[in-house]
Amino acid sequence: MESPFKADILKGKVALLTGGGSGIGYEISTQLGKHGASIAIMGRRKNVLDSAVSALRSLGIQAVGLEGDVRNQDDAVRVLESTIKHFGKLDILVNAAAGNFLVPAEDLSPNGFRTVIDIDSVGTFTMCHEALKYLKRGGPGQDSSRGGIIINISATLHYTATWYQIHVSAAKAAVDSITRSLALEWGTDYDIRVNGIAPGPIEDTAGVSKLAPDDMLKEMEQNVPLYKMGEKWDIAMAALYLVSDAGKYINGTTLVVDGGLWLSRPRHLPKEAVKQLSRVVETRSRNAPVGIPKSRL
Ligand code: COA
Repeated sequence: MESPFKADILKGKVALLTGGGSGIGYEISTQLGKHGASIAIMGRRKNVLDSAVSALRSLGIQAVGLEGDVRNQDDAVRVLESTIKHFGKLDILVNAAAGNFLVPAEDLSPNGFRTVIDIDSVGTFTMCHEALKYLKRGGPGQDSSRGGIIINISATLHYTATWYQIHVSAAKAAVDSITRSLALEWGTDYDIRVNGIAPGPIEDTAGVSKLAPDDMLKEMEQNVPLYKMGEKWDIAMAALYLVSDAGKYINGTTLVVDGGLWLSRPRHLPKEAVKQLSRVVETRSRNAPVGIPKSRL
């Protein structure tokens, strides 16, 4: 689908994306690149990075792949330094690296819980922490009037509770909290905007294939108020909006892009029954003698 944004809105900008070589992260890399940004992608798997970089370059995007694990602080430091070496500065950090698997809480070892917290929550904080000196107003290659932008990819799992996702729910709750705290502190001190995106079920992603077997997907679609799964493109467009000047006053928000799924509940009454019932109750209460409490009607 064609982007509704102008092709040069990120001209001259540099973005680093963790987990930017595959899935949602790769689509965000592509769209930021198509709109003018130079792209550095960080990931653990060299082969994934290599093929992502050559695909980005074939689209005319300046791109580099940097091997590293967000759980390792030295990797974070090295990858950020390499980004600066390649492109001279950093304007946008997107934390898209994540780990996930379905598991009942009773079968999850504390180390399994910790692993996901380490990737999603600690990894996000580490990348933000190490990127600060490059992103802040007046940092290397930055102009002195504006700071950079951070986007943290989150989820909606923890808005209520999600079956067999205790580790990821806890990890993403921490990510949202990090987003708000950094928006407050770094927005104030360094003019850095920090926002999140919480995707719903997005087709053709590891998230969906790991968490929902094929036969569950159709059922899942029926539960989305818009009756369809999201596309990676939808998440990338949300990212573009947040990093562009259109989002210049948005700070500390996690934008939910899920077709309304997290709000969805089964209807407990058919719509026609609600209309009938509501009229009867309203008429009864209007005609009630004065002095009788409505609770007794
Ligand atoms: N069920 C239960 N526990 C699991 C598990 C599963 N499916 N997969 C991993 N674990 C546990 C392991 O048993 C281990 O705990 P233990 O030492 O107590 O046994 C712990 O998690 C670490 O596992 P390990 O395989 O060593 O971790 P890793 O660092 O190699 O891989 C994962 C990290 C597990 C998150 C892996 O799924 C991954 O790399 N994911 C990245 C891609 C991804 O998930 N994308 C989807 C994004 S939505």
